[in-house]
Amino acid sequence: MKICQFLFYCFLLLLTQTPVHAQQAQPGIEQLLKETFLDDYYSNVVYGYQIVTNTQQHASRYVGNKLNCSNCHLQAGTQKEALPLNVAGMYPKWRAKNGQRNGIGLRIRECFLYSMDGIMPPEDAPEVLAVAAYLSYLSQGQVMGAEPEGRGVPTLPDTGYDPNPANGRSVYQDNCASCHGQQGEGAAGIPAVWGLDSYNKGAGMSRVDMAAGFIWANMPLGKGKSLSHQQALDVAAYLNLQIRPSDPRNSKFFKLLEHLID
Ligand code: HEC
Ligand code: HEC
Repeated sequence: MKICQFLFYCFLLLLTQTPVHAQQAQPGIEQLLKETFLDDYYSNVVYGYQIVTNTQQHASRYVGNKLNCSNCHLQAGTQKEALPLNVAGMYPKWRAKNGQRNGIGLRIRECFLYSMDGIMPPEDAPEVLAVAAYLSYLSQGQVMGAEPEGRGVPTLPDTGYDPNPANGRSVYQDNCASCHGQQGEGAAGIPAVWGLDSYNKGAGMSRVDMAAGFIWANMPLGKGKSLSHQQALDVAAYLNLQIRPSDPRNSKFFKLLEHLID
């Protein structure tokens, strides 16, 4: 009788020992960074986080400009209305840009090619797999297939006026040049908004509506939503008239020249 009871308790104990991942809320990034030992998944999550926040250092071989992913995907991809990266449940999906069903891997690789003005990493590059792990981590708790709240950037309402780049120039001088520079060149800790160190003409940010939504919600940094919709549209149009790396789909020759000049 006693031994039966003992075995029964042992059995109960075993039942309650379900795997840690399934049972606990996932640890925060700060905590993961402090751990000395991580399993394969979490070590990829941490590596993916490092790539997103310091792309220059951790994925330099695929990067052609001076940006980091988190210059646009603010707060390491956790900020709503600033292109948050908790979107793993939205993939794969159909995308008009390349006419294919896109997995999350391809989406990540395309940001290297366009936003980072670099080269497309192979599908199984450790950098791509790590960023994908980080995106899964950020997406925990999201409903598969449902748009996370604050995805992308806000769509600005039609103001009734065309974007006016001449007016955008003065918006830039008054609100942006103090950080991003007279020539859009940026400074230490502040990314370039045009020139060869910036995103190329094929990037999502080089669409006026996309840039306007991002700028309106998030810029000037720390004072998001202080510009009018029209000012955001105007300054976006101004930015996108400036010189920047060409679209790699259009001109292989120009790309080569740019890399030689750089
Ligand atoms: C210059 C700004 C910029 C940089 C730098 C940038 N991205 Fe993006 N990213 C965007 C924009 C804009 C979009 C939305 C584009 C679209 O929908 O066409 C986007 C979309 C994405 C998406 C899909 C988001 C969604 O809602 O489905 C992923 C994933 C992504 N980027 C990953 C990255 C990674 C990884 C890096 C760094 C290697 C990076 N991005 C660098 C601007 C940027
Ligand atoms: C207080 C300094 C500051 C001001 C003012 C400011 N920005 Fe930024 N901006 C930043 C920083 C810093 C980042 C990158 C954020 C990060 O990495 O967390 C950024 C990112 C950006 C980006 C995406 C990355 C890139 O380089 O393309 C754009 C576009 C942008 N700013 C446009 C503007 C515009 C337009 C204005 C004026 C309306 C403006 N900013 C005003 C500091 C500033």
